[in-house]
Amino acid sequence: MTAQELRRLYLDFFAARGHAEIPSASLIPENDPSVLFTTAGMHPLVPYLLGEGHPAGNRLCDCQKCLRTDDIDEVGDASHLTFFEMLGNWSLGDYFKRESITLSHEFLTKVLGIPQEKISVTVFVGGGRDDAMIPRDEESPAVWESLGYPKERIFAFGRKENFWSMAGAGPCGPDTEIFYDTGKEPCSAACSPACNCGKYVEIWNNVFMEYYRAADGTLSPLERKNVDTGLGLERVLCLLTGKQSVFETELFVPVLEEITALTGAQYTENERAFRIIADHLRAAAFILGDDKAVQPSNVDQGYILRRLIRRAYRYLSDLNAPPLAMVTIARKFVEQYEAAYPELARNEAFICEKLEREEKAFRKALEHGLKKAEKFLAALPEGGILPAEQAFKLYDTFGFPVEFTQELTAERGFSVDMEGFHALFAEHRAKSREGAAQKFKGGLADSGEATTRLHTATHLLGAALRKVLGDEVRQRGSNITPERLRFDFNFARKMTPEEVAETERLVNEAIAAAIPVVCAETTVEEARKAGAIGVFGNRYGERVKVYGIGEVSMEICGGPHAANTSELGRFVIKQEISSSAGVRRIKAVLE
Ligand code: SER
Repeated sequence: MTAQELRRLYLDFFAARGHAEIPSASLIPENDPSVLFTTAGMHPLVPYLLGEGHPAGNRLCDCQKCLRTDDIDEVGDASHLTFFEMLGNWSLGDYFKRESITLSHEFLTKVLGIPQEKISVTVFVGGGRDDAMIPRDEESPAVWESLGYPKERIFAFGRKENFWSMAGAGPCGPDTEIFYDTGKEPCSAACSPACNCGKYVEIWNNVFMEYYRAADGTLSPLERKNVDTGLGLERVLCLLTGKQSVFETELFVPVLEEITALTGAQYTENERAFRIIADHLRAAAFILGDDKAVQPSNVDQGYILRRLIRRAYRYLSDLNAPPLAMVTIARKFVEQYEAAYPELARNEAFICEKLEREEKAFRKALEHGLKKAEKFLAALPEGGILPAEQAFKLYDTFGFPVEFTQELTAERGFSVDMEGFHALFAEHRAKSREGAAQKFKGGLADSGEATTRLHTATHLLGAALRKVLGDEVRQRGSNITPERLRFDFNFARKMTPEEVAETERLVNEAIAAAIPVVCAETTVEEARKAGAIGVFGNRYGERVKVYGIGEVSMEICGGPHAANTSELGRFVIKQEISSSAGVRRIKAVLE
C-alpha cells in the first residue's frame, strides 16, 4: 500500500457514498488571524460547519495539508510530525452519528481490511465544558455495539479526551475516536486509549459538531448538526504497512536514502537527526511550495519556517552535509509529492531559491554565532547556566532559535536560563507585536490625512452593512491606502445592486450629517458593555480606545480617525466581490 493508494481508496470510498471530493486548501489560513497554519482538515471548512452552504454540496471529502507546531521539539521520535496529511469526510447538516460511525467502520474493516478485534473506540461520557453541561453521548456507543464492538472496547471519557474544539471560537462538539490496538501488553490494569502508553494508536476522530463556542467560552447549539472526521494519513499508512515508524514508510524512505547519499551517514545510527532533517524539510517544502507561500522571517509563519530550516541545517551540518544539501532534499520531496500536490512542482524554483538564500544567510551567522557561543560557554563553570542575555544575543544577532541554543548547550552539559530568556523574548515580542497590531488594527498603510479619512469611512461602511445585511456582519480584514479602502466582511452571497446602493446612501447620509468622531479610552469589558464592536476579538490589551460616531457607530479601534464625518467627501463603492468562502470584499473611495 502506498500513500497515493490510501488517499485514493479513502476518497473513492466516500465519493461512492455521495461525497464531493474537494481539493486541499492552503496551509496558510485565510482570514483567520487566530492561527498561523491550517491545523486540521476542518479548518478551511469552518464557515460551512457554521451553517453556510457549500457549493459542492453537504457531503464532502478531502485530503488536507496540515501543520502543527506545538510539538516541534518532539520531532525525532517514531511518530511526531510537524506537517501531515489529514483525510476527512464531512456531513454539513446531512448524516450524523449512526452513518458517520458506520462509514468509518466499513472503510477500516472492509476497505483497509483491519481486523475488527484490533479496533477500540472512545465516546463522550458527558459533563461540563466551559459554562455548559453537555449530555452524555448515548447514541455513539449504541451504534458501535450494534456493529459488533464489545463493551470492553468502547471506552467513555470526559471533555479532555472526547470533546473537540478549536483553539479559539468556532464549531465544536463531542467526538468518538477510533484506535488501533498494537497488541502490546496493557501498561496497567487501567490501560486504555487515554493513557498514551503506546498500546493504542489513535487513527480517526469523528467529531459531532453541534455547538458553537464563542471567544469567551460560552456554548450555543448550532442550527445544523455536522460531522467532521479526521484520519491521519501517515499514521494509518505506517500501521497498514507494518512499519515501526512513519519515517520508515515510502513517504520518507527515498529522502532518508538521499541524506545517506549526501552525508555518508546511516539512518540506523542517526535516527533522530535523520528524522528531524526529513520532517523539517518536508514541512518547509510544503510551506514554501504553497501557492500562498510565506518566506523565512522573524515573525509568525515566517519564524516557524525559519526555525524549521535552521534546525534542519544544523543537523545536516553535524552530519557534514555539503552546501545546499537542503535543496537536494527538498527536490526529493517535490518529486515524491507532486502527483498529489502539483503546487509543489509549480513552486519548485521558489522553494529552492528560498532554501538556498536562508542557508547562505544562516551559514555565516552560524559560523560567527558558534564562535560567540563557544566564548560564552568557555566562561561557564561545569554544569553552568548560560545567562539569558547571552542566549538572547545568539537569537537576536545570530539568528539562533533558542531551541537550537538549548540543544547546543545541553550537548556540553550546560543549560540555558530559559525563564530569563522567555522574559526577554516576551519583552521583545510585545514591542514587535505592538508594531504589528498597530499596523493590523486599522490595516492602515500610513496615517496621512487621506488614509485617515478612508479609515473613518470603513467604520461608517461597517455600520451601514450591518443595517442593510444584518447585525451579524463583522469586519474580517481591512486594508487602506491613501487612494482607496478595502473592507472584508462575513456574508454568504453577492450583494444585490440595491443593497450596494443603500449601503452607499447610508454612509453618505452620515457624512452629510457632519457628526463629530469622538474617542474614549476604556477596558475591553466596558467597551463591549457599552455596545462597542471589537473587530479583532482578543487581540486587545486591557485598555482600549473606542471611537464613536454619533448614533451610527462605536468600535474598539486604534485610530487614527478624522475629527468629523463632514471631512470625508463623497463615498463611492467601486466593487463588491468575493474574497474567500463566506467572505465578501468591498473596494471604495472618497471623492
Ligand atoms: N477536527 C478533528 C481533528 O482534528 C477531526 O477532523 O482531529
